[in-house]
Amino acid sequence: MTFRIVVLASGTGSLLQALLDADEAGELPGTIVAVGSDRPEAQALTRANRAGVPTFTLPLAAGQDRRRWDGELADLVEDYRPDLVVCAGFMKLLGEEFLSRFPDRAINSHPSLLPSFPGMHAVRDALAHGVKLTGSTVFIIDAGVDTGGILAQCAVPVLPEDTEETLHERIKESERTLLVDTVCALARAR
Ligand code: GRF
Repeated sequence: MTFRIVVLASGTGSLLQALLDADEAGELPGTIVAVGSDRPEAQALTRANRAGVPTFTLPLAAGQDRRRWDGELADLVEDYRPDLVVCAGFMKLLGEEFLSRFPDRAINSHPSLLPSFPGMHAVRDALAHGVKLTGSTVFIIDAGVDTGGILAQCAVPVLPEDTEETLHERIKESERTLLVDTVCALARAR
């Protein structure tokens, strides 16, 4: 039976692209059945469309009931009967309402070596702290902010001339490989 993957993404979608490329190349022991976003203008959706993968969007309006949004997102995701939900640059926290529907089946990629530098500004925070080594982490999403069980990590050196942009770009290179490898391992382990 095919291992079914739903990817959630909010941004440019380069992590998603790595997964789409692996799928297209037949390197993924599974298939990406849908891509969802909270941002209708996300480039990630264009990438999914280009690859012929179905998409859905669910924006979160200011002041909107959060539990309800979580439930609606879970409904949209569940329609695709995923074995795994992958957050690849998805910039919304998934609440209990969502996570209870996909227990231990939702993973996230984060641009730091957790538990250092959780949250939205991981790369900026690592630079500000002056660490010489940072990296990326793939973990199982739980109710906390970047606190779930760690599945895989990859270290990236911080260079003296790094800006937030150059460092994040190098981290994202490591994230793409780490995420594809982790998704492959999870699919194989099922
Ligand atoms: C990644 O660094 C991810 O960890 C973070 O946002 C970035 C997403 O990049 N949350 P992209 O949109 O996949 O290019």
